Amino acid sequence: MTEPQARATWNADTYARNARFVSDLGAPLLDMLAPGPGQRILDLGCGDGALTEKIAASGADVVGLDASASQVEAARARGLEARLGDGTGLDFESEFDAVFSNAALHWMTPPEAVVAGINRALKPGGRLVAEFGGAGNVARIEAALMKALERRGFDAAAANPWYFPGPDDYTALLTGQGFRVDSIALIPRPTPLAAGLAGWLETFSEPFTELLEPARRAEYLAEVTEDVRPELCDAEGNWSADYVRLRLAATLEG
Ligand code: BEZ
Repeated sequence: MTEPQARATWNADTYARNARFVSDLGAPLLDMLAPGPGQRILDLGCGDGALTEKIAASGADVVGLDASASQVEAARARGLEARLGDGTGLDFESEFDAVFSNAALHWMTPPEAVVAGINRALKPGGRLVAEFGGAGNVARIEAALMKALERRGFDAAAANPWYFPGPDDYTALLTGQGFRVDSIALIPRPTPLAAGLAGWLETFSEPFTELLEPARRAEYLAEVTEDVRPELCDAEGNWSADYVRLRLAATLEG
């Protein structure tokens, strides 16, 4: 296993406070996975184990893996088997009946290395069931984060950690590495932000804000907030994020 990349410092408490909707919205993906006794499943990017716990409750034998020590600790506190590791360096060998991943693959680059590791981790005929940010995901927020960073003289494209592919590109990646794609679709999902945009930015914007001196971060985020307010905040002050998910199921052929 390679060392986890320093992309974002996940804090399990912050994530649970501001982004619980991410795992709450994972229920349809669990239905696609249809876990049960006799299946060995890897939950790639398991976070604090909210969905891993549901997979375990089905009777499946599940291992969670996450690059955040804080999230792994939170998953273990639920009584789950959770390991610290990075998705680009998976070193499992033909061990799993399925790899499951919710809201995580958009953080893992290069995607070719991630899919190669998933391929190695699966038994022949094993399944990948995943949902993550697809083309256009949080496009409005991403553009504002980048524009405000560029205005301050930074290379925003280099700072941007996210990988949001469309169905054609991801299908080509999977089929090129021995998978048959059973289903793949972009799902636009405007998502209410109960903790407001401030909570979302607190949780997810670190790869951008970490380039700035701490004293300059508040005005940066205020500028981003005002940029997106007309499109993402209604007259009553309710925020939503312009989420677009890529949801897929694929089978390892051979
Ligand atoms: C997410 O984990 O849901 C997410 C993170 C960053 C950008 C978009 C979505």
